[in-house]
Amino acid sequence: MIAPADSKASDAASPAAKTFRVRIKRQDGADQPSYWNTFEVPERPAQNVISVLQYVAAHPTTVEGESVEPVVWESGCLEEVCGSCTMIVNGRVRQSCSALVPDLLEDADERLISLEPMTKFPVVRDLFVDRQRMFDNLIRVKAWVPIDGTHDLGEGPQETPEQQQERYAISRCMTCGCCLEACPQFTADNAFLGAQAIAQAYYFNQHETGKKLKPERLEALAGPGGVGDCGNAQNCVKVCPKEIPLTEAIGKAGRQLTVHAVKKFFAGK
Ligand code: SF4
Ligand code: SF4
Ligand code: FES
Repeated sequence: MIAPADSKASDAASPAAKTFRVRIKRQDGADQPSYWNTFEVPERPAQNVISVLQYVAAHPTTVEGESVEPVVWESGCLEEVCGSCTMIVNGRVRQSCSALVPDLLEDADERLISLEPMTKFPVVRDLFVDRQRMFDNLIRVKAWVPIDGTHDLGEGPQETPEQQQERYAISRCMTCGCCLEACPQFTADNAFLGAQAIAQAYYFNQHETGKKLKPERLEALAGPGGVGDCGNAQNCVKVCPKEIPLTEAIGKAGRQLTVHAVKKFFAGK
């Protein structure tokens, strides 16, 4: 969603409404310099950051009285499932749809909320970043189950409840980018896959049908930007909103890589 103007949030504030300020880091385009705008917003019960952005989109006038272009951001599900609304809220990377204003104001020194785009992805405009690298990384590690859908393949192989449980935890990834934003090894100028793609490679390696591509995935994980580049700082696991056991998955992917390398050695490859 980009700068909607027709929502309840666009209603004019009642004169008596208590207000707070939102400070937004802005950028007019990919190669443009960044700058800040501050807006005054009326406080409403159970308000989230997206509704603050909707209010600002409908009232794009700064506290200095300057009329500016409406702020651009991205969102989709509004229930912390799609990951598209991820940004830095009061210095912490998280989803803006589940960031509630009352909680943010309670923790803030002043009645001020700060919003910035993630720093590890190119800014398209304002708070909207291009997360394509994450999706490209999923392609690099072949994060899918190879199924021929042209004819009936019959029942799939069975999995134990323990296997399902382990994979379920990792399946909750919404490709939001929090883990990559927090990772010191994931930078704009390197090829590190990061915790998200490595965990997804492990997830599909553990799938009874998905493991058909395991050797190819492990080759990708062994290459430049693979598991070997993880510094084990564990920042990723601390910020993942879905509490995915990322460092455990990276460790297990590393062990799969070792077995793969030994097998290759004895096969003379
Ligand atoms: S453990 Fe550290 S270096 Fe490895 S992916 Fe997580 S944050 Fe990055
Ligand atoms: S692993 Fe967690 S933090 Fe990383 S992209 Fe997936 S849901 Fe987001
Ligand atoms: S809009 Fe989908 S996670 Fe926030």
